[in-house]
Amino acid sequence: MNEFVVTPWEVKGEIDYQKLIKRFGTQLITDQLAGRLERHGVDHWMLRRRIFYSHRDLVWLLNRYDQKEPFVLYTGRGPSENTHLGHLMPWIFLRHLQDVFGTKVYFQLTDDEKYLFKPGLTMERARWFAHENALDFIALGFDPTKTVIFSDLDYAKSLYNIAVRVAKKVTYSTTKAVFGFAESTNVGRIFFTCMQSAPAFLPSEEEGKNVPCLIPCAIDQDAHWRITRDVAPLLGYYKPATIYCKLLPSLAGPGKMSASIPETSIFTTDEPAAARKKLERGFTGGGVSIAEQKRLGGKPEVCSIYRYYQFLFEPDDKKLNKIYEECRSGEMMCGECKKRLGARLEKFLTEHQRQRARARERLDDFLVMD
Ligand code: TYM
Repeated sequence: MNEFVVTPWEVKGEIDYQKLIKRFGTQLITDQLAGRLERHGVDHWMLRRRIFYSHRDLVWLLNRYDQKEPFVLYTGRGPSENTHLGHLMPWIFLRHLQDVFGTKVYFQLTDDEKYLFKPGLTMERARWFAHENALDFIALGFDPTKTVIFSDLDYAKSLYNIAVRVAKKVTYSTTKAVFGFAESTNVGRIFFTCMQSAPAFLPSEEEGKNVPCLIPCAIDQDAHWRITRDVAPLLGYYKPATIYCKLLPSLAGPGKMSASIPETSIFTTDEPAAARKKLERGFTGGGVSIAEQKRLGGKPEVCSIYRYYQFLFEPDDKKLNKIYEECRSGEMMCGECKKRLGARLEKFLTEHQRQRARARERLDDFLVMD
């Protein structure tokens, strides 16, 4: 009954993140590894709170870095909808990594993927969302001299030249085993992982030598990297390293925030006051009545609203702890807690939308095509 599903295209149920580590075969970010990152200058709540909690080959990557072999960062977005708050999480963390390590960033917009996977989505619409989503990425303050953004449809030549080599090493039985494809699956979907693999190897092609690559993203993308990493040595490339975060839950409780359920997701393009209203309807860990909650306290550990503070809106650990304690002790009621978060959300969206409007004029500084 408690079984949960996490794939790049479906997330269902209450996720047990420890179980997921075992299921996927990833590594836990230990205190020792977090300490090592902190000594390099990584100082971020998403690491301290282990929202970024798992990885593949991060130790290897840092060893290379310490031996003066710099790495690149790579992440992406499947443009089927507007960007929601969950998508911003890996990008915010990645932005911090770019600052700390001074790395080049590659950002892929998989408009081909969304066209292949989302019934009814036209190619034109996927392309349009690709540009809209890129604005959210740029709005976070990336440096155009060190950041490139591309869509698969518009950068096809560069990517396909790598993807086709990946494809030669991936069998149908592998993709089927990893993704559960059926006889009726269109062949574009079966090929698609090869396109998502390509940017991990693009820097090595560009530089004519192997370049280590780190991919920050949520754990839902791991299936692609399992295939990419298996193929890498067969093509003479390094395996990309990954660092994974947990998924921002939907406002309705368990399950991830998903762009396909707009009522329980907050989009960066939502009118700030309307977003606040959605949040006010969100699931909490409150009691059945105010009297009961005052007596027994709330349950922040199951509360969506608390997760929003923890994952995105309260970087200060002491202040977060205070919110936790005030809820646990029955001192703060859900209405008040939502009101405080709503004010922060409105402020955040107003500023993000201002930066997003500026980004529209700078899109060409980031986009590459061939
Ligand atoms: P997409 O568009 O589904 O998601 C974009 C990024 O957001 C992460 N994510 C979340 N993070 C936290 N909470 C959530 N609720 C949440 N939902 C999604 C995803 O893990 C991802 O990092 N095929 C990819 C696009 C892609 C990509 C990549 C992603 C191409 N290359 C390299 C990561 C790294 C996709 O459709 O992501």
